[in-house]
Order: sequence, then C-alpha cells, then structure tokens
Amino acid sequence: MTARIALVGACGRMGTLIIRRILATEGLELSAAFDLVNIGKDIGEVINAGALGVPVSDPKNLASVLKESRTDVLVDFTVAAATAVNAPIAASAGVNLVIGTTGISAEQRAAIEAAVKENNVAAVISTNYSIGVGVFNKLIRQAAELLGLDYDVEIIEAHHNQKKDAPSGTAMTAAEIISEAMGGKEFVFGREGVCPRGKEIGIHAIRGGDIVGDHTVMFIGNSERIEIRHQAHSREIFVGGAVMAAGWVVNQPKGRVYGMADVLG
Ligand SMILES: NC(=O)c1ccc[n+]([C@@H]2O[C@H](COP(=O)([O-])OP(=O)(O)OC[C@H]3O[C@@H](n4cnc5c(N)ncnc54)[C@H](O)[C@@H]3O)[C@@H](O)[C@H]2O)c1
Repeated sequence: MTARIALVGACGRMGTLIIRRILATEGLELSAAFDLVNIGKDIGEVINAGALGVPVSDPKNLASVLKESRTDVLVDFTVAAATAVNAPIAASAGVNLVIGTTGISAEQRAAIEAAVKENNVAAVISTNYSIGVGVFNKLIRQAAELLGLDYDVEIIEAHHNQKKDAPSGTAMTAAEIISEAMGGKEFVFGREGVCPRGKEIGIHAIRGGDIVGDHTVMFIGNSERIEIRHQAHSREIFVGGAVMAAGWVVNQPKGRVYGMADVLG
C-alpha cells in the first residue's frame, strides 16, 4: 500500500530534500506541503522539481488539509515552537508523525507524547536521522560505561551559521546518553569567568559558514584522552533516515513514540 506523506517546513533546507526523496521512493506519495512561505504556489515548482499539483498550504489549515489529502504521515522539520503546535493537531487528525525538529523542550515533548497516545497514532522523534549517528551513539554509550567516572567529558558541536538552536539536538542526545551511562551528570553550556571544573559534562557550540554538522565527544583522563567524532558531509544522511522512518511508522503499533534505533531495528 502506498503511504501518503505530508511535509511541514516543506520549503526549508531539509523539507526540500525530503520531498525530492519521497518523489523518488516507490511506495511513498507526497500528499500535502505546509510552510509559512510560498503559500498557494505548487511545491514542485518551489523546489525546482516540476509541477506536482500539490500547493503549499498555510499551517493554520493543517487539520483540514491533512484530512482532505488523506495523509498518513506528517514529517516535520521546522522550529520547536511550530512543532509544539502542529504535532498535536496532526495527531488529533489521526495522522502519524515523523519529527526531526530540534530544540524541543521536555514539556513540549511530553505534550506531543500525550497527544500521540490519546489519539492512538504512532510517531518517530529523533534529533538525528543519520545511520552513522546511530552507531556514534552506541560507541559513546560503550565508552562512557567502560571509562566510568574518572574521565571528564566534553562535547563540542559545529553547525552552519543559519542554525537557530544551540546546542544541537544531537549534542543534547549525546549528553543524555553519557549521563545515563555514568549514573547522572549535570550539564554546563560553555564556560566564562570563574568556573572550576566539577563532574559535569561540558557542552560547546560552534556556528559558522556551511558546516552540515560535526559532533565530537572527548573523554579526558590524566595523560590520555579518547575522542569519538561524527562529521556529516551532506544533509542527505538525514534525508534517507527520515524518509525510511516515514514509510516505517505507518505499519507500527499505535499510541507510541519511537526513536531512530527502533526504525533501524
Ligand atoms: N533530526 C535530524 O536529523 C535533523 C537534521 C537536520 C536538521 N534538523 C532540524 O530540522 C529543523 C529544520 O532545519 P532546516 O535546516 O531545514 O531549517 P530551515 O530554516 O531551512 O527550514 C525550516 C522551514 O520551516 C518553515 N517554518 C518555520 N515555522 C513554521 C511554521 N510555524 N509552520 C510551517 N513552517 C514553518 C520555515 O519557513 C522553513 O521553510 C531544525 O530544527 C534543525 O535543527 C534535524
């Protein structure tokens, strides 16, 4: 059965690439597109893919357009404030979710999870849809478990100068994985002035140019250190995972939120 996929943030860097991939993927169809810009224009023309007969819709009409277009899954790559509003509306319209937006607070996530359960839909939420980052996360968990508390942990991430949130969702996920493996740690974001090091995880964000996404975790001991690094060369690594998640989520037990590890099995 063909899954009908809609995009919110359709005209953005990620939205554009995901639509192109959906068009090229057997078994998936683009059902609708939402953004704050280019409303009323054909999304295919906006992204230089030729006319598709799918207009960019105003997110204010999310519920009605999702229903009329018989959408199965809404893929959201926007900003946290928009996702916090749109995800519960989509869930209440009976639409499954794939959320890639980062910077979502714990409260916003809890509200999205509640909407998924209440409306008995399924969702995938991941701060990073790349398969390489899935492996990176496993490696840092293993390193944290093996090294224990004697090593200081610092996380450094670098992204392009248009990124709105800091630190990156991937850096926050890495910090949470390490904290869990080490039995609970505080996070310190950047350092300035008098700030003696405690047992915290230090998290640092670099912004510039067109860097797609670099993440380095340093485990620093006395006389040695281990660095585990992932570098994204292209946004295509996120696109493949997000489109895979969109095809996958329609066939999963409802009322639950999944992660990329579930999609990858
Ligand atoms: N999870 C991942 O693997 C992954 C990978 C890359 C980017 N991201 C995240 O995805 C998000 C988008 O990244 P991007 O680089 O595509 O950004 P972008 O700024 O290029 O695109 C965002 C799009 O969302 C639209 N938008 C903003 N508010 C909206 C609203 N209320 N309703 C509808 N559309 C709205 C904007 O007009 C824009 O077209 C960011 O949070 C980024 O961190 C996640």
